[in-house]
Amino acid sequence: MRTGVAIVGCGFVSDFYLRKLTDHPELVLTGVHDRIAGRSAAVGEHQGVEVYETLSDLLSDDRVHIVVNLTNPSSHAEVTLTALAAGRHVYSEKPLATSIADGKRIVAEAERRDLLVACAPANILGEAFQTLWREVRNGTIGVPRLVHAELDDGAVHLMGYQDWHNTTGSPWPYREEFGAGCTVEHAAYHLAPLTAMLGPVRQVVADHATLMPDKFPPGETGVVGPDFVTASLSFEGGTLTRLTCSVVAPPDRSLTVVGDGGVLRLDNCWDFGSPVTVRTIAGRRSDYLREAREVEHARPYLHHERYLANHRMDFPRGIAELAAAVGGQRVPRLSARHALHVLEVTLAMTSTTGVTAIASEFDQPEPLPWAS
Ligand SMILES: NC(=O)c1ccc[n+]([C@@H]2O[C@H](COP(=O)([O-])OP(=O)(O)OC[C@H]3O[C@@H](n4cnc5c(N)ncnc54)[C@H](O)[C@@H]3O)[C@@H](O)[C@H]2O)c1
Repeated sequence: MRTGVAIVGCGFVSDFYLRKLTDHPELVLTGVHDRIAGRSAAVGEHQGVEVYETLSDLLSDDRVHIVVNLTNPSSHAEVTLTALAAGRHVYSEKPLATSIADGKRIVAEAERRDLLVACAPANILGEAFQTLWREVRNGTIGVPRLVHAELDDGAVHLMGYQDWHNTTGSPWPYREEFGAGCTVEHAAYHLAPLTAMLGPVRQVVADHATLMPDKFPPGETGVVGPDFVTASLSFEGGTLTRLTCSVVAPPDRSLTVVGDGGVLRLDNCWDFGSPVTVRTIAGRRSDYLREAREVEHARPYLHHERYLANHRMDFPRGIAELAAAVGGQRVPRLSARHALHVLEVTLAMTSTTGVTAIASEFDQPEPLPWAS
């Protein structure tokens, strides 16, 4: 049976979802809504689907089983809670909410109503991460001791972002992106996979700064969140991670896992087909690591030409995973409790300089069958 999904929020990222949605024939788009009528009209016409004038109109359509919340982070909690109150499952873009209190409200409401909420990012489900995770489980590098996770996105303010528009004309929302800061926007691309693989973080030691405050076009001013954050994350299982997020240093989205028997590396956490390499220990000598060897992916990532070259992510795969969880009456792999943990760590990275204890609990997701 096909699952009816409706999108709330027809901005920049909606294009990334819609370009790949037809790769998931089990999902059917019923319609779209945005509080800016021109945006939903443009997307509705482009997709040939219904345009809901209000969120209530969308929620009174019986064909909608999953509401896909692609609004700005400040609207995530409000839209998700409204959809839950109307009896709908929700797939939300990250972050789950902008405060722990709202995140907890979402988890509690979903559980009280026996509904499912899943949250991006979906790169946990990607071929590259599933391959790296399989190698860690198989003991290829022994016990993981240290992780270096980079999410440097380059100096975005020097990239001519004013000209970035998606297929239906939505501009890249620089006011929201600069205001939230790159860590709220991007840390989850490493935190979600790492906590899926290694379990919960129990302590965050963070430092942050705004190193390049003049990011707006000439004559414009606005809020600029931290553009550099670095944190040391202590995992309950003993692994230590250094995670850095910036829109200052040149692009580097790599993940390096150091075990006592070798080193695994995933080149780009935004690329589902990213190369994964391994270096094992050759012996007790100065060149103790063997040459890097590429690990064969658990299955190939099929990347279509119609998809933007700079986004090799299958965004709607997370919605399809949620639909399968609804059908199978199980917890989704991108669960709300896990997203709440990721949110708690993200906020600890940005809102304090110092040491923060992390309390939230979640069940680690199962790997995908094709990678187990
Ligand atoms: N921009 C990117 O490259 C990118 C990539 C991955 C994920 N994301 C995430 O996707 C989400 C959306 O980002 P975006 O870049 O598309 O932002 P955007 O500002 O381009 O689009 C968001 C849309 O949501 C609409 N909206 C906000 N509140 C609403 C409400 N209450 N009811 C109806 N519509 C509402 C806005 O009018 C806007 O059109 C964010 O959570 C962001 O972190 C963005």
